Amino acid sequence: MGRMETIREISVMRGTSLNYLLKNKTIGFVPTMGALHEGHLSLIKRCRQDNDVTVVSIFVNPMQFEPGEDFDKYPRTYANDKQLMEDASVDVVLLPDAENFYPGGFSVNTTVEVGGGVGENLCAKFRPGHFKGVATVVAKFFNIVRPAKAYFGQKDYQQSLVIRKMVRDLNMDVNIVVCPTVREKDGLAMSSRNVFLSAEQRKDALLIYRALKAVEENLTMSRMELSDVPKLMSSVIGSGKVVSEIQYASVYDPDTLADISAEPASKYAGRAVLAAAAIKIGSEKEVRLIDNMLINVG
Ligand code: PAJ
Repeated sequence: MGRMETIREISVMRGTSLNYLLKNKTIGFVPTMGALHEGHLSLIKRCRQDNDVTVVSIFVNPMQFEPGEDFDKYPRTYANDKQLMEDASVDVVLLPDAENFYPGGFSVNTTVEVGGGVGENLCAKFRPGHFKGVATVVAKFFNIVRPAKAYFGQKDYQQSLVIRKMVRDLNMDVNIVVCPTVREKDGLAMSSRNVFLSAEQRKDALLIYRALKAVEENLTMSRMELSDVPKLMSSVIGSGKVVSEIQYASVYDPDTLADISAEPASKYAGRAVLAAAAIKIGSEKEVRLIDNMLINVG
């Protein structure tokens, strides 16, 4: 496909998409907030394989950050992102201006809220407006880009369920593809926020993965009840020196995100359950980290 096209104007993106659609080209879409890493690149790669045209958006979406969260200091590394996307043969980069993207300013009154456990459990308890911001921005992008398929990472498992439910409930004509979590060599899930971790915090960050692996080992070998999962995860993660908060660490129904730690493991034998955790590391400069694993119960 030639050179990568960079688009800032929403109307230009609409025209570009329409052109591709009229030529019968399939559009694949990877929404991001930039500070790209191997996790993002894996989605782009998969998108390139599946579609004629790959559109990547970079937009640090103010609506999905809670007051006091890291919107202002969220890493913005566009020069590097641009190089990575060129190397990955991205066709179109959409970089919307906030004014252009939120017509009439940022006081949006029309939003998308995904209800049910999927939109209300886990992270939603600690970031009450977060998924409304995510669903709204992704719905807006889908209307502008008109992709046949859109790519999300399992790293943000709840986000992928929220988007799936939105698409189903609102009859959106987009296929949602969820790609595996890409990890550092030692197992830490890649995240744009990992750059905030000091060497000491980086060590403790790995404990989420260790906890998930311990749960996996025990559940696949039927060596543990589901009620042991929160205890095991909390003890592994709680051993960290600079872990300041465990927001949740338990086992959930992978479709509804209901906490199933009070249920017998035998009920889930031969099926997948979701172990997931969210923690904060550090006290003065805290970093919030999440991770999860789908585990086949033995
Ligand atoms: P961002 O955090 O930039 O992530 C963009 C996409 O990359 C998401 O689908 C996320 O799940 C995926 N991703 C992140 N780390 C990953 C990893 N280690 N392995 C695999 N995939 C990974 O998620 C968002 O942005 C925003 O909420 C967005 C959907 C763009 C809406 O603003």
